[in-house]
Amino acid sequence: MVATVNIVGAGIFGLSLAVELKKNGYNVTVFDKNNYAEDEYRNFEVQAASVDQNKIFRASYGKKLHYQRLAMEARDRWEKLGNGLFVASGMLRVQPTEDLGSLEQETIANMTRDGLREMLFVKGHADDEARAKQQGWFEKILKFSIPGEQQNKEFGAVLDTTAGFTKCSAACYYYYCLAKDLGVQFVFGVDAGNFDSLIKEETENGGSAVVGLRTKNGSEHRADTTVIAAGSFSTQLLPELAYHLESSAGSVARFEIDPQDVFLWDKYSPEKFPVITWKRRARDGAGKDVGSVYVFPRTEEGIVKIGYRGVKYTHFQPAPANSTFSQDNQWSIPASPEIKPPQVALDAIQEFVSIFLPELKDVPFYSTKFCWYTDSLDNEFVVDHVPQYANNSCFVCTGGSGHAAKFLPVLGEHAVDIFVHGENAKTPLRPFWRWRTDVERKNGLEEGPSGPRNLAK
Ligand SMILES: Cc1cc2nc3c(=O)[nH]c(=O)nc-3n(C[C@H](O)[C@H](O)[C@H](O)COP(=O)(O)OP(=O)(O)OC[C@H]3O[C@@H](n4cnc5c(N)ncnc54)[C@H](O)[C@@H]3O)c2cc1C
Ligand SMILES: *[C@@H]1O[C@H](CO)[C@@H](O)[C@H](O)[C@H]1NC(C)=O
Ligand SMILES: *[C@@H]1O[C@H](CO)[C@@H](O)[C@H](O)[C@H]1NC(C)=O
Ligand SMILES: *[C@@H]1O[C@H](CO)[C@@H](O)[C@H](O)[C@H]1NC(C)=O
Ligand SMILES: *[C@@H]1O[C@H](CO)[C@@H](O)[C@H](O)[C@H]1NC(C)=O
Ligand SMILES: *[C@@H]1O[C@H](CO)[C@@H](O)[C@H](O)[C@H]1NC(C)=O
Repeated sequence: MVATVNIVGAGIFGLSLAVELKKNGYNVTVFDKNNYAEDEYRNFEVQAASVDQNKIFRASYGKKLHYQRLAMEARDRWEKLGNGLFVASGMLRVQPTEDLGSLEQETIANMTRDGLREMLFVKGHADDEARAKQQGWFEKILKFSIPGEQQNKEFGAVLDTTAGFTKCSAACYYYYCLAKDLGVQFVFGVDAGNFDSLIKEETENGGSAVVGLRTKNGSEHRADTTVIAAGSFSTQLLPELAYHLESSAGSVARFEIDPQDVFLWDKYSPEKFPVITWKRRARDGAGKDVGSVYVFPRTEEGIVKIGYRGVKYTHFQPAPANSTFSQDNQWSIPASPEIKPPQVALDAIQEFVSIFLPELKDVPFYSTKFCWYTDSLDNEFVVDHVPQYANNSCFVCTGGSGHAAKFLPVLGEHAVDIFVHGENAKTPLRPFWRWRTDVERKNGLEEGPSGPRNLAK
């Protein structure tokens, strides 16, 4: 008999897993409270991290070689798709000062060790600039003056041509169509597709197994395995995840460029303009990133998006009695979409704009919003069977921690290996993505409601 799988969530994780499970012969149904068949992942007000014009693709992962390799595997697949969902625009890492920061130097050393040095171009480095001219990258080694410096000093910068961006919403829609073509079933909508609760049954030895799910309109959907892939909402659906995950918000602002404005349209096009990331200050003593801002080239619709991740805001609320972990009886969950980024975040974005996008300095934002991260306790994803439930009847596929979008084409293959083989999975990601209540809660998850990032304070 064909085993059936219900997946809750049609974002990056749910889609990628659905496609691979179907390819492996499972009978797969995906549920989502949002109707992506109708909006084609283009309603940017929807609260799903995957619904977004663009996300950064990078392969530089510092000492996390497993992600560097996964990123190069994904890059290869994005390129093989050949449909422009990945754009190799390059990414300019602008330094806090005119010199290369120590972290950047280490990144260069490590990428050199992995044979990727040729794909990096250091501003002001004669050999690199000559090579950039030959290869057509020179125009993207942009020069920015350091404000307040007399002798017109410029920020140090490294152009990383392994990097670029993915058209995230378009890629989700592509994978949704692919899944549908393969025969994955989708149930969408605030009633029919909206998860209400798990259906559980007691096993012979007194344990518990998940036998399906109930949706808000009262229907029951039985399955051999139920997968929670609901991004930053996952803890509310499966409180057993509360120890592993915390929702936090990144601040995003958008400008709209008029195609009639030929100068700006051209200047900020992906052909001319790379993704830019800038750390306003070096990492603090604790190695924490204190002020990073990034911008994408304009989209085909003329949207220029800027993100601030200096502070990822938490939103602590009373935790329900069924949550398996809380801090001062609270947990951080997404705030309603009406809650917008605070002025300090917008000020940081404005400061960035005045240096890096000077023509837009006095232009009002087209829109601002929070985008909710699903932070795990160590920045690794959480992809495993939930040990509390018998018969491998409950599986989780989440914990994107702000960096999973780039992996859409390959995430599912590794997740299915874990789904099918559990402890015996061959993927090198298995030890990193396992259910891990034995691991200490770090990555900011130790802060709790009294921490400095809590919006609800
Ligand atoms: C500000 C920000 C910037 C980021 N930048 C990058 C980047 O540059 N590069 C990169 O690679 N990654 C980036 N990421 C990370 C990436 O976007 C996420 O890791 C990824 O999109 C998470 O996908 P997901 O499927 O877990 O969650 P989501 O995309 O949130 O999808 C979860 C789905 O579950 C559904 N759902 C929720 N509750 C229910 C329910 N009760 N019933 C039914 N359905 C439900 C939701 O509607 C949603 O469609 C960023 C994330 C954020 C927030
Ligand atoms: C797949 O599951 C659906 C819903 O549970 C069911 O209606 C359908 O008959 C199943 N198909 C197969 C081939 O088992
Ligand atoms: C470079 O690699 C070394 C050894 O693997 C590691 O300890 C170090 O943290 C890496 N540097 C960066 C910037 O990640
Ligand atoms: C819930 O919605 C689905 C899809 O529209 C429908 O098939 C089902 O009958 C509904 N269930 C109830 C109990 O109304
Ligand atoms: C769990 O699996 C066992 C062995 O396959 C089976 O006998 C039992 O009925 C299953 N329990 C549930 C609740 O599905
Ligand atoms: C947990 O408890 C809350 C509040 O009592 C309830 O609304 C929710 O459905 C419960 N969640 C689960 C997954 O049991």
